[in-house]
Amino acid sequence: MATVLHIAASPRGERSKSLQVAKAFLDAYRQLAPGDNIMTLDLWTTELPAMDGPTLDAKYAILHGREKTEDQRRAWAAVEAVIAQFLAADKYVFSVPMWNFGIPYRLKHYFDVLIQPSYTFSFDPEHGYSGLVAGKPVAAIYARGGDYAAPEAARLDMQKSYVEAVLGFIGLRDVRSIVVEPTMAAGPDVAAERLSQALAEAEKLAQSFQ
Ligand SMILES: Cc1cc2nc3c(=O)[nH]c(=O)nc-3n(C[C@H](O)[C@H](O)[C@H](O)COP(=O)(O)O)c2cc1C
Repeated sequence: MATVLHIAASPRGERSKSLQVAKAFLDAYRQLAPGDNIMTLDLWTTELPAMDGPTLDAKYAILHGREKTEDQRRAWAAVEAVIAQFLAADKYVFSVPMWNFGIPYRLKHYFDVLIQPSYTFSFDPEHGYSGLVAGKPVAAIYARGGDYAAPEAARLDMQKSYVEAVLGFIGLRDVRSIVVEPTMAAGPDVAAERLSQALAEAEKLAQSFQ
């Protein structure tokens, strides 16, 4: 029985295109793998630890090979809980809106908590950086108001490229993507057509995600 963790980064509930596509993906997946455990982490209703004070000092203690103080250890436990939930999953689904060419700040906050030395990546002077979360597949669903398919627009896309860079850094290189765009810029008919294409892609992708 596999555990699938869906990390949801849109606050728009049923109006969210990335969530609609993620739901189609997970519904199709559930039908094919009814015994699997699917969990959703809604980043808009989940309190994440602030990366400051003793929490940040704990990170630097790890980076410099120093013992954590009691205060830092207590604060760091909240970071470890987020990482433990992530590492317990076998497969990941990210649903991600584009905000200002990048990702919503809640997802950035999640990455800032998740990506930690000796937990999700390692460094040594001889081999450099290595991801520690290898061998798990990711389905990444992106929604954008505009259309970034053309080369001159693609350079502004720091949403998909950033998510892939961050996931690759921690070892997740098997990232299968669905992009739904434009959800706004070309009007409601084009948006509806692109959404229905993405929903069909999601059902298909669920079959190879088993
Ligand atoms: C704060 C904010 C910033 C946005 N910035 C962009 C942007 O830079 N480029 C773009 O194409 N769309 C942008 N949009 C539009 C969203 O990408 C679009 O509505 C998308 O469908 C959101 O995903 P969702 O439907 O899953 O919430 C932005 C929307 C919000 C709320």
